[in-house]
Amino acid sequence: MIYMKILITGGAGFIGSNFVHYMIRKHPEYEIVVLDKLTYAGKKENLQAVWNKITFIKGDITKKEDAEKVIKNCNWIVNFAAETHVDRSIIEAGTFVLTDVFGIYNLLEAARKFDISKFEQISTDEVYGHILKGSFKEQDRLNPRNPYSASKASAELLCKAYFETYGSPITITRSSNNYGPYQHPEKLIPKTIIYALSNKAIPIYGTGENIRDWIYVEDNCEAIDWVLHKGKLGEVYNIAANQEFKNVDVIRTILKLTRKPESLIEYVKDRPGHDLRYSLNTKKIREIGWIPKTIFNDGIKKTIDWYMRNTQWWMPIIEKEKVDFHKTS
Ligand SMILES: NC(=O)c1ccc[n+]([C@@H]2O[C@H](COP(=O)([O-])OP(=O)(O)OC[C@H]3O[C@@H](n4cnc5c(N)ncnc54)[C@H](O)[C@@H]3O)[C@@H](O)[C@H]2O)c1
Repeated sequence: MIYMKILITGGAGFIGSNFVHYMIRKHPEYEIVVLDKLTYAGKKENLQAVWNKITFIKGDITKKEDAEKVIKNCNWIVNFAAETHVDRSIIEAGTFVLTDVFGIYNLLEAARKFDISKFEQISTDEVYGHILKGSFKEQDRLNPRNPYSASKASAELLCKAYFETYGSPITITRSSNNYGPYQHPEKLIPKTIIYALSNKAIPIYGTGENIRDWIYVEDNCEAIDWVLHKGKLGEVYNIAANQEFKNVDVIRTILKLTRKPESLIEYVKDRPGHDLRYSLNTKKIREIGWIPKTIFNDGIKKTIDWYMRNTQWWMPIIEKEKVDFHKTS
């Protein structure tokens, strides 16, 4: 058994906390350290079930001293920390540039200083922009179309530059849209579930025809771990379950499963620069042996069930943050 001390930045957010749970189950021999600023999107409660098995440090990746303090004792880094909501980036892009670009620079520098042997950057399919036909391959050009995806693309370019210039041990994963437990209610699927359960109108941008490729979060966690152990340094890996649906059809499925009427759907003014379709070619990660396990129908049932059983998790978020339910992700 190999011993590893892994730093998971952004580990109190949606995918990060699912990844922490996954790693503790899959690699009980590893030591897990979480660094998280606990912004509106990060919650200690997301890690409650594993609290006594991890070291949690509240800190900010944009601060050199916070990054160095934790990185100096770790072997590997998996970076989830980011500002992640497209709508927020359209209103105010500065925080995205600070966290998603400057924060990554800080982590890369600290990783270089303390000789980290693997650095996995969690990126997104949004860096490619949208595609009407076919699917993006890893070597396709980056064409981000909103401030969030532009900041994530910039982070990737920095990672690539550090790999080429300093030999930094980088891998990058670009995953499609995730869904599952612990996702903030501002995002499309949890918002729809919560609104359906509360019999409230469910807003949908434009005509609802925009297509997203959905992956159950646990499958993405497995793929991220796969790349961590089997990925080639300097490479990018697309991660998706190749399950594309129109936003309106995702909402219809949730309404059907929660036994609510379609009359709850409310069409609202479209988001500026709204990407029409995301689609990923996943041949490269399949070639190193990873395949997704969860079909959308099963994953969405598990997700609805989780939100139904965990009202105490999302109710305070909604009350405290007064989530604007006229915006969707
Ligand atoms: N959610 C998706 O569908 C999706 C899809 C593809 C890629 N991604 C990427 O995966 C990663 C995680 O996404 P998510 O949906 O879990 O995000 P999230 O918004 O739920 O969580 C982000 C986490 O980062 C933390 N954070 C923010 N700024 C920080 C800082 N300066 N220092 C330390 N911690 C900070 C937050 O507190 C939070 O815990 C992001 O990098 C995102 O770009 C997400």
